Amino acid sequence: MKKLIIANWKLNPQSSAEAVDILDFLSSSIQDFAVKDNFAVIFCPPYVFIPKVASTVESSPLRSISHIGAQDLAAQDSGAFTGEVSGSMLTRFGVQYVIVGHSERRYKMGETDEAIHEKIKAALRNELVPIVCIGEADRDGNWNDFIRGQCEGAFMGLTGAELAQCIVAYEPVWAISSNPNAKPDTPDSAVEAVRIIRSVLRRISGEDNICPVLYGGSVSSSNVVDFVGHPEFDGALVGGASVKKEEFAKILRLVSEIKS
Ligand code: PGA
Repeated sequence: MKKLIIANWKLNPQSSAEAVDILDFLSSSIQDFAVKDNFAVIFCPPYVFIPKVASTVESSPLRSISHIGAQDLAAQDSGAFTGEVSGSMLTRFGVQYVIVGHSERRYKMGETDEAIHEKIKAALRNELVPIVCIGEADRDGNWNDFIRGQCEGAFMGLTGAELAQCIVAYEPVWAISSNPNAKPDTPDSAVEAVRIIRSVLRRISGEDNICPVLYGGSVSSSNVVDFVGHPEFDGALVGGASVKKEEFAKILRLVSEIKS
């Protein structure tokens, strides 16, 4: 299976010209190393840059390894929901993936487990792959129950076939680079969390390894191989480093060298 690298651009960059500049740089750097088919990149820009990012990727060497994602979607498909963007609108712009339940949406925008569950269903009914973020705020005594609860809240009630369409990103909130005192988790400790996530998914679906599970939180060129090269992780969700063009190009080169 291909390793997946999700580029979560968050509220960056500030213009579509800067977005194109990042992509142009990546296009020229991926020509310097053999692009293997061992990985895929999913660019998740802010909504307004999606058409430009999609057309730029489509007409560049990035095309063979890239897909387009969004950072959120509405739980509803239409109606009186000011400010929202629906799954079917995203699909029409060539979007194939969507991040759901990022911790910044959970904690800064107050999204609940119920809302996230509804957004996962909205993604699936619009043929988008939801990239569902799960992660504890602190590694305190009950962190594993917390992860189990978040996972059940997101996925309970979905069928095995629906779960097989999802991607899960384990992102401990304390490891996200924009948080004060952030530091990356270690593969060994993140594996503990991934095993909890996989056990909940197994209980709901009755199957082992029903969907890919990624790691996210301060991923950089100095640790990407430790996570993405580890057999328990199917890829990485990269935030801050994904809009630093030199750094992200380095990350892609390192991932392309990982032996599957
Ligand atoms: P980070 O962000 O890579 O900057 O830690 C990851 C995320 O929040 O998705």
